[in-house]
Amino acid sequence: MKSAKLIFDGKEYELPVAAGSENEVGIDITKLRSTSGAITLDNGYANTGSCTSSITFIDGEKGILRYRGYPIEELAEKSSFIEVCFLLIFGHLPSKNELENFEHDLTHHSLIHEDMKKFFEGFPPSAHPMTVLSSMVNSLSAYYPESEFEENQYLNIIRLLAKLKTIASFSYKKSIGQSYVYPQNHLKYCADILNMMFAVPSAPYKVSKVLEDALDLLLILHADHEQNCSTSTVRMVGSSEANLFASIAAGINALSGPLHGGANQKVIQMLQMIKDNGGNYKKFVNMAKDKESKFKLMGFGHRVYKNFDPRANILKASADKVLGELGISHDPLLEIAKNLEEVALKDDFFIERKLYPNVDFYSGIIYRAMEIPTNMFTVMFALGRLPGWIAQWVEMKEAHGARIYRPRQIYMGETQRPYVPIEKR
Ligand code: CMC
Repeated sequence: MKSAKLIFDGKEYELPVAAGSENEVGIDITKLRSTSGAITLDNGYANTGSCTSSITFIDGEKGILRYRGYPIEELAEKSSFIEVCFLLIFGHLPSKNELENFEHDLTHHSLIHEDMKKFFEGFPPSAHPMTVLSSMVNSLSAYYPESEFEENQYLNIIRLLAKLKTIASFSYKKSIGQSYVYPQNHLKYCADILNMMFAVPSAPYKVSKVLEDALDLLLILHADHEQNCSTSTVRMVGSSEANLFASIAAGINALSGPLHGGANQKVIQMLQMIKDNGGNYKKFVNMAKDKESKFKLMGFGHRVYKNFDPRANILKASADKVLGELGISHDPLLEIAKNLEEVALKDDFFIERKLYPNVDFYSGIIYRAMEIPTNMFTVMFALGRLPGWIAQWVEMKEAHGARIYRPRQIYMGETQRPYVPIEKR
């Protein structure tokens, strides 16, 4: 086994080096503090491996993304979201029998407790659906308190996968003041989501195959992305032995931020703003380069991908196809997006910083064409990411020598000083 040497304060420390199955290397500093008294400092954890994992492999330089060894391009073309859920959580592609059982279980746990409907009533109509989603997922622990017990793990995973789409759709219906549409056992997972979102009691609704396939693809592309902000949050919360629902609710909150999953909503808002300002996209590229402006090109840049985001490539091609199939011959926002991308990719500022469109750059265009409202985009991301969060939570729990996540810090505040009574302050 390789090792690394650290010389600190005149003393030499030998540190073991861990190698991954794809030859990634990590210097193992588990014993660094106990032997040297020092810790590492890593702003934003850009150089820190928080765990070893067998779920997702990313090579950001080469634009590679694989779930359990299978390239994302192949899964996007050949698989279904439900197969991908199974793959991520259980580690292998399901046999026909396993898939049937899994789909059966998911179908038969999709209803939520009727009392939970009252929770939706308590939110103001203006509540963001992500807020509602995380609150409702958190409250599932109240309905399934037996979730503390290991033997219920499979059942709770199924419950969560099955009910999240119902909760998400109900939160949408609540936000537009329509009656809830219940899950239908005869519909496949993605068709059921669309039916719950778009059907109304007063008219028949047939789920379009184009929309169903487009949603399936989007959910596959979002299904896992190793130790990103929300996934690390899920692991962090779960490491205290908090239950699955509490851990995932925390992940949903982490995802909601505009630098993470919330970016898909912000991309469309940005493209709309550019259009409303006369479509001068070059002006906005210049604004993004100007540090004083605080303006960023939303949907651009990634902590890990430094050449291209393979998910963005798949979605760019899919955007044209889906819009064509939906009979949308021209989308001004898609045009602005493509122009923006072309200009930015030729600009030294973006080239030097290796800033490329990420998955959120084109996903919003497709969601919009599907008539999914902008404030539901991040909820759709959460539906896609759920199997990844679950798989990572299970892996964290089952890891050999699992410990509570507890980073250190370098304290920069006041040193000890005498307390000042209020009359003397
Ligand atoms: N527009 C303009 N400049 C940018 C952008 C952008 N979108 N992203 C990064 N930069 C600049 C940044 O200012 C910095 O410049 P400098 O070196 O001069 O200080 C440099 O590029 C490096 O960026 P960083 O902020 O250090 O990169 P990071 O790894 O900390 O952040 C990011 C990654 C995705 C948060 C960031 O690129 C960003 O804010 N992008 C816009 C939001 C977005 O699209 N988020 C979705 C991410 S993909 C979906 C997901 O998994 O969540």
